[in-house]
Amino acid sequence: MKSVVILISGRGSNMEAIVRARISGMRIAAVISNRDDAAGLAFAAAQGIKTAVIPHKGYANRAQFDVALRDAIDTHAPDLVVLAGFMRVLGDDFVRHYAGRLLNIHPSLLPAFPGLHTHRRALEAGVKLHGATVHFVTAELDGGPIVIQAAVPVLPDDDEDCLARRVLAEEHRIYPQAVRWFVEGRLALDENGRVEVKGAGSATFALHLPPLDME
Ligand code: GAR
Repeated sequence: MKSVVILISGRGSNMEAIVRARISGMRIAAVISNRDDAAGLAFAAAQGIKTAVIPHKGYANRAQFDVALRDAIDTHAPDLVVLAGFMRVLGDDFVRHYAGRLLNIHPSLLPAFPGLHTHRRALEAGVKLHGATVHFVTAELDGGPIVIQAAVPVLPDDDEDCLARRVLAEEHRIYPQAVRWFVEGRLALDENGRVEVKGAGSATFALHLPPLDME
């Protein structure tokens, strides 16, 4: 049984998608938030999952917060730590401590649009494809080895909200998939630092080019 800790800061819909996926061989040891008003905490608690809040505002600096967060996570001795809309930048020591067992989801087709406001920036740039990426976390912000990506079209009438909704629907598909691969022991890094997914063939991307009927 692989033990997983999920970190959230808000709504927690990606955490919810991972919980609902009922991945066999996975136990969600805890959901931890840096904000006590994170809506996702209620869902986790209702599922009988342990929750904890480590408020970043309670610490003098980022390093002290990182240590407190690491201690809270490590009481659960997780095999995998999943950042699911966790909106704090984590320091190098923290990232190194979880090397190879820290995943993040980012709402863009990395390496395009690292950082914030990805949907707005995609619209401003006029890209025709946008999407989401699950990647291992390294010291480089939104820069670690890519596990899976999903692409969606950017449609002529899109605004930020409807593009975000279309991307989020894909996030909810690819994040549980990536976690399942990890739990099954199928993720490996090759000598170039790229992710190999054993036995996945071309299933490491999802492409949805026909206009989607979800608005
Ligand atoms: C998701 O779109 C996720 O990709 C993004 O925040 C949202 C959280 O939603 N993460 C980042 O921007 C990280 N840089 P959720 O709380 O409903 O999962």
